[in-house]
Amino acid sequence: MLQKIKKIGEFDEETKKIVDTYYKAALVTGYVSCNGYMLTDLFPKVEPEISQLDVRDEDIWVVSYPKSGTTWTQETVWCIQNDLNFELSKKISLSERFPFLDVPFMINTKILSEKDPQAVQRFGVESKLQKINNLPSPRFIKSHLPLDFLPLKLQNNSTNAKIICITRNPRDLSISQYHHCQVFEGFQGTQEEFAELFIKGLVPYGPYWDHIYSYWNQRSKLNIIFIRFEDMKTKLPQTIEKISKFVGKVLTEEEINQLAAHVTFDNMKNIKTVNKQKFTDMIRNLNNVNQEATFMRSGQTHQWKTKLNADLIEKFEKWEQENLKGSDYELNYDEA
Ligand code: A3P
Repeated sequence: MLQKIKKIGEFDEETKKIVDTYYKAALVTGYVSCNGYMLTDLFPKVEPEISQLDVRDEDIWVVSYPKSGTTWTQETVWCIQNDLNFELSKKISLSERFPFLDVPFMINTKILSEKDPQAVQRFGVESKLQKINNLPSPRFIKSHLPLDFLPLKLQNNSTNAKIICITRNPRDLSISQYHHCQVFEGFQGTQEEFAELFIKGLVPYGPYWDHIYSYWNQRSKLNIIFIRFEDMKTKLPQTIEKISKFVGKVLTEEEINQLAAHVTFDNMKNIKTVNKQKFTDMIRNLNNVNQEATFMRSGQTHQWKTKLNADLIEKFEKWEQENLKGSDYELNYDEA
């Protein structure tokens, strides 16, 4: 694939003003525009190292726009690859088993170590890229980056590494990301304001469509499969089978059912190694968010029908139509 020329820089003044007004996270000092994506101002410093990161044939990467069901997919993939070792999954945190590539630019470790010195070590946020580099194979790696900024070896498909991309309908995403940003990004506005920003792409990792198409439009050149949150809800066994086939594992019907039971919302919610509650609580405190928050929030589809007003639904409809024009990407709201 021909490498896109990378354009990284400040937002224009007006946009920067909007972003600075809404986002007040304790561990983020600002956002910049990276090929048009809203990423933290730490990203430009880390970008060269991520771009050159070694990718191995045995790697499995789970990539997504945030709040698409990444954690759900990670746990599913890890269990498939580790012979359904639920005992081990309950012993070792998912973030250790399946590290998050983006940590070095998501969390300002200098600020964190001033505010909560132990947290840096407790959550293993330091030297993340080095740790990923040193992991034994097979490695499992998560990222929310668009394809433009993944390691070059993945973009070029110059290894046999596998990519699993999980997607979710943008209306529900906007609601899930709103709740997430209230806690994790110190978001100061209402849900309606967040939805407007979401449509404009002024949310972390936005714009949504550029993100989706960064993967979708290159799919024939990549070792990738796409799965959907909505299918995980309605066709979990089939989705597990699809993932298993892709990673080269054969699961019996009984194993598929066991795994489907393990990764239900209610089960995962109660497993400390996967529910991210400790981390959520830490960030919530740092951002002085008063209300309780759970990472495993609702796990539902179709929330937009009751949570978005008619005006916003109309805006979403128009925006979806515009962005789907000329594309074979499908959004299906009726199935799930
Ligand atoms: P909601 O905020 O709508 O509840 P990610 O891991 O990409 O950040 O995605 C988080 C979203 O996936 C949250 O959505 C979370 O509740 C949901 N989720 C996580 N595990 C799930 C599961 N086992 N079943 C259904 N939804 C799940």
